[in-house]
Amino acid sequence: MKKLSGQIKINTAVFISGTGSNLYNLIKFSLLKKSPIKICLVISSNSKAKGLNFAKKFKIKRKTFRFYKKDEKILINYLLKNKIEFICLAGFMKILSKYFINKFKGKIINIHPSLLPKYKGLNTHYKVLKNKEKITGCTVHHVNFKLDSGKIILQKKVRIFENDTPITLKKRVLKQEHVTYPIAIKKLFSSLQKKS
Ligand code: GRF
Repeated sequence: MKKLSGQIKINTAVFISGTGSNLYNLIKFSLLKKSPIKICLVISSNSKAKGLNFAKKFKIKRKTFRFYKKDEKILINYLLKNKIEFICLAGFMKILSKYFINKFKGKIINIHPSLLPKYKGLNTHYKVLKNKEKITGCTVHHVNFKLDSGKIILQKKVRIFENDTPITLKKRVLKQEHVTYPIAIKKLFSSLQKKS
């Protein structure tokens, strides 16, 4: 990632599709003095996403975009108009186009509920249990052109218990996602500061 502008907090958009527990967690984090990000915008791919309520509650600008290819330029212009410099994907279920990723090159990160490069894509907890793994976890990574394949920023391991189901595991991993995402953001920006 190139050096971001000299402002104290980086104007950030969070992209969601569903519940938004990571969004809620990031909003709380962003309000701390030590946070390098300011969440100015929440973009949802789904108008019914529960997570939009968190944006409303915290009076953050929110918008639904269908992520149709034809609307891509509208979204990019909207993000630029709102001076967005950094994008956090949080439970965002659409695949961003190469064109979009290029426009925000090095400025998009994601959280994934597995220890990447293992278990990319969907149904991670089900696949992890099916393969009788003993350890799983979550990963915060940069977004590149390949699904769940960008450079890893931070990972956190989670133990799997014998009686785990995809639901119990999801709950435990999600708890660690909430711990890991803010730490990863701090780590990313402190390493950028050192470089600049
Ligand atoms: C999280 O497990 C995230 O890693 C995955 O989808 C889930 C979204 O949860 N991509 P939430 O919407 O943040 O509650």
